[in-house]
Amino acid sequence: MDQEIIVQICAGCGACEGDIMAELAKLQHEPGTPIRVEIEECLDTCDDEPSFAVNEVSIAPANPEKLRRAVEAVRGS
Ligand code: FES
Repeated sequence: MDQEIIVQICAGCGACEGDIMAELAKLQHEPGTPIRVEIEECLDTCDDEPSFAVNEVSIAPANPEKLRRAVEAVRGS
């Protein structure tokens, strides 16, 4: 199991606001592999914003469900 999950968030396309961040906050407070959040200026998926990456796997366009599925897949839950 990973020691931590790295979630990168693109601030350049405004992904660090709204529903997806609320879902991320929920995920951070749930049991399982800890999540480290990194705010980036651009994740090179600008055409599909909002852009996130989970352990360097792109999620774009992101939504709360996709983010949850990606984190839970890494956590094995
Ligand atoms: S500005 Fe968000 S991915 Fe480029």
